[in-house]
Amino acid sequence: MFSSLAVYTLLALQVCTISAFPAYQSLAGLTREELDAVTSSTPFVAPPPPPGPLADDSSKLVYDSAHPYQALRPGDQRGPCPALNTLASHGYIPRTGIATPAQIVTAVQEGLNLENSFARFLTYSTFLVNGNPLTNLMSIGDKTSATGPNPPKPATVSGLDTHNNCEGDTSMTREDAFFGDNHSFNEDRFQNFINFSNKYGAGKYNYTVAAQLRKFLIQDSIQNNPQFTLVSPRLFTAFAESVFPANFFIDGRDKSGQLSLTNARSFFQNMMFPPNFYRRDGAVSTTGQDIVINLNANFKPGFNAKGVNTFTVDPTSATLAQPCVRYVNFVNNNIKELYPNPTGTLKQALTINLQYLYEATVAAGDNCTQVFPYGH
Ligand code: HEM
Ligand SMILES: *[C@@H]1O[C@H](CO)[C@@H](O)[C@H](O)[C@H]1NC(C)=O
Ligand SMILES: *[C@@H]1O[C@H](CO)[C@@H](O)[C@H](O)[C@H]1NC(C)=O
Ligand SMILES: *[C@@H]1O[C@H](CO)[C@@H](O)[C@H](O)[C@H]1NC(C)=O
Ligand SMILES: *[C@@H]1O[C@H](CO)[C@@H](O)[C@H](O)[C@H]1NC(C)=O
Repeated sequence: MFSSLAVYTLLALQVCTISAFPAYQSLAGLTREELDAVTSSTPFVAPPPPPGPLADDSSKLVYDSAHPYQALRPGDQRGPCPALNTLASHGYIPRTGIATPAQIVTAVQEGLNLENSFARFLTYSTFLVNGNPLTNLMSIGDKTSATGPNPPKPATVSGLDTHNNCEGDTSMTREDAFFGDNHSFNEDRFQNFINFSNKYGAGKYNYTVAAQLRKFLIQDSIQNNPQFTLVSPRLFTAFAESVFPANFFIDGRDKSGQLSLTNARSFFQNMMFPPNFYRRDGAVSTTGQDIVINLNANFKPGFNAKGVNTFTVDPTSATLAQPCVRYVNFVNNNIKELYPNPTGTLKQALTINLQYLYEATVAAGDNCTQVFPYGH
């Protein structure tokens, strides 16, 4: 298999054509020949390889003079991820909320000390379903023309708000999509987050709270959301996100493992680093997740089949113990559904991004067998 470096060199040599194809026009309804013409003449931004780990992953001031907070301007995108929202508010990610995968990996490492392989894994999983492979841009919020001319449908290129790719049910501070707004901060849910932190964390959020809150949120959605679903790949992000606040939103000089509710609100609601914030000391990813998984060991991926309280196990979904089933199904189902038959530069871009996803999957410790939905 080719290495990332080899792919990059190959693409760097490629001559990209600038076409007269009008930007931001929908490609739906074109014939196969027309689609081929469009995808082969759209200006092609070759996706460069993702950055490597930080040279120095010690704690440091990240709310510094080079990264002031700035309020949103009209049109700036923010979405369901409190970390990416905050990094955009401080300019670690472009303040527009439109970014390349490499920019996102750099930002989550530099600003919060997310471990490199997991940062790449999260970023390419998300980018492949919600980003624009032709322009190498993704919105961290809603669908927007700012990510450039779209590849042909059924691709959606609709940003992080898109339901059921990575965004999904049982978020701590965002409502399930069934209730309307799947991505904005929700005060009621945050009050519940506070209640759980009071009950199980003596007023702070920690792994014990994370486990209890995850258990509650699953039961709550089963009982109240007729369209509740929690299956792979969303299943994996739901459990990882539970420990992220305890791993990344605590100031790096504080080694207690207990997140203050003031810091939590700063990230979740205000999309802002707490004053004088230092990133954590040493890169990590899902440390603590075993505590959350252990308390929820009886949960199997599934959905409400016939309204509330009709939870049904989905045997086709990967479980948390089956990361390679997740990988294979994600590529062969989720990605192929959006890109059933890509050609030209679109196929090239997808192939390269799939390679980056696979390399990240292996680097993160899941030695899965690679699959090639578009051939070798
Ligand atoms: C240090 C890095 C990161 C941290 C601390 C973090 C933290 C979080 C947390 C705590 C949530 C849950 C919000 C809630 O339940 O209310 C979340 C959601 C989300 N994050 Fe991040 N995140 C990080 C990196 C990323 C990256 C790299 C991506 C992809 C490019 C990403 C995409 C998302 C998405 C799509 C959601 C919504 C999932 C949902 O429906 O709840 N995050 N993130
Ligand atoms: C999630 O939010 C986005 C942005 O508002 C919206 O376009 C989308 O329809 C929502 N998804 C669902 C399933 O409600
Ligand atoms: C949180 O706890 C308070 C006090 O027990 C209660 O009145 C309130 O309804 C709870 N809020 C949520 C969202 O559960
Ligand atoms: C969370 O906080 C509670 C209350 O202080 C404590 O009993 C528990 O051990 C803490 N859990 C962790 C993992 O720090
Ligand atoms: C991954 O699996 C392959 C094939 O089973 C094996 O040859 C290789 O040594 C494994 N790599 C690691 C890092 O475990």
